[in-house]
Amino acid sequence: MLTGKKILLGITGGIAAYKAASLCSKLVQQGAEVRVIMTGSATQFISELTLQALSKHPVYTDTFDEKNPQVIAHIDLADWADLALVAPATANIIAKMAVGIADDMLSTTLLATEAPIMIAPAMNVHMYTHPAVTRNLAELTGRGVLIVEPGSGQLACGYTGKGRMEEPEAIVAVLANYFARQKRVAEQPLAGKKVVVTAGGTVERLDPVRYITNDSSGKMGFAIAKAARSLGAEVVIVAGRTEVSPPAFSEGLTVTRVESALEMYEAVNAIWADTDILVKAAAVADYRPKQIAEQKMKKSGETMTLELVKNIDILETLGRSKMGQFLIGFAAETDQLEQNALDKLRRKNCDLLIANDVTAEGAGFGSDTNIVHVYDQDGLVQSLPQLSKEEIGLRIMELAAERLTGEFK
Ligand code: PMT
Repeated sequence: MLTGKKILLGITGGIAAYKAASLCSKLVQQGAEVRVIMTGSATQFISELTLQALSKHPVYTDTFDEKNPQVIAHIDLADWADLALVAPATANIIAKMAVGIADDMLSTTLLATEAPIMIAPAMNVHMYTHPAVTRNLAELTGRGVLIVEPGSGQLACGYTGKGRMEEPEAIVAVLANYFARQKRVAEQPLAGKKVVVTAGGTVERLDPVRYITNDSSGKMGFAIAKAARSLGAEVVIVAGRTEVSPPAFSEGLTVTRVESALEMYEAVNAIWADTDILVKAAAVADYRPKQIAEQKMKKSGETMTLELVKNIDILETLGRSKMGQFLIGFAAETDQLEQNALDKLRRKNCDLLIANDVTAEGAGFGSDTNIVHVYDQDGLVQSLPQLSKEEIGLRIMELAAERLTGEFK
């Protein structure tokens, strides 16, 4: 499964370092080439000789121990790796990665590498739930670092709880999945498909200087658009007001800017007949002011009443006129997530519906991560844990590709 993959294995100083020997052995058995960097603390728990024997290569512990004068070791290793895996990852290395500290061979190499990074945290349950660790992990997740969540159980420190490094077999399986994903991306399963993604919040004007909008930053929609493009689709983004910039214009990716729900509908409807997949990640206003004042409204009286009229429901309208398009809706919920999600899915005739509890920490509006539940007409398809919006975008588009083409497993 991992034949020829170059894995840089970083081992840090926790009791779970003993499991790194088994991990290294399993990686080699699966055909991976493994190079090992150990921190000084890791060598307190397990010997370099063990990892050298298992990886069949010298182990790096010191930034200044240049084994080959032709190269700078930490840059050479950083460039060599297909993936850097830190297992176990202590609270200390997680903090260093989060702020970019490079004060030993491992942290320096991790800062220098452009390879994807995966970490398998292991620590005491109170350390794992400490706000500093939570914040650092969220920072890394947002940056695309892959986290192999620790398991729960009896910890070496005597406590019972979450913090036990995932078993080597499971980490190897996650790695295999990761490389399988890369292979699928290379297969370009959405080549020849047109994917339209709405992103951001609509703007409903009251007068020339005021409007009604919402907290959508555009991050979720843009992440989906990038994922669709990476799987080979021609992508059109229809974006309302956003806090972040859309992906840079490139061949196969265009961005149309709109303000109101009506404008969003017109833009999406104009290309609906050619659309293969529509993803409605935008937060659309259900109501708009009945009147848009031509001049700035003047202050008068102690109270003011705005009269609103119902907006078109873009998803529902297009759902009624589907001609083979694959329709993915979102549901931003604060309560009764499943019930509301299934109601929207059926009412709006979606093929998939992505529900997020926008009150949950690390989910919904503005954050770099999300926690989503995916439904189809038969009910729950999958629940995804807290992941970067990029990763969620890929999972959604992979699922859509699989359902649309039936070839993509
Ligand atoms: O942009 P971010 O900051 O990254 O935040 C992401 C997000 C929270 C905006 C996103 O994950 C999300 O939940 N988007 C949908 C927000 C929303 O409008 O949800 P809703 O439950 O009100 O609407 C249900 C669906 O109908 C949505 O797909 C929406 O686009 C669509 N809709 C709603 C109203 C309307 N008039 N027309 C529509 O098409």
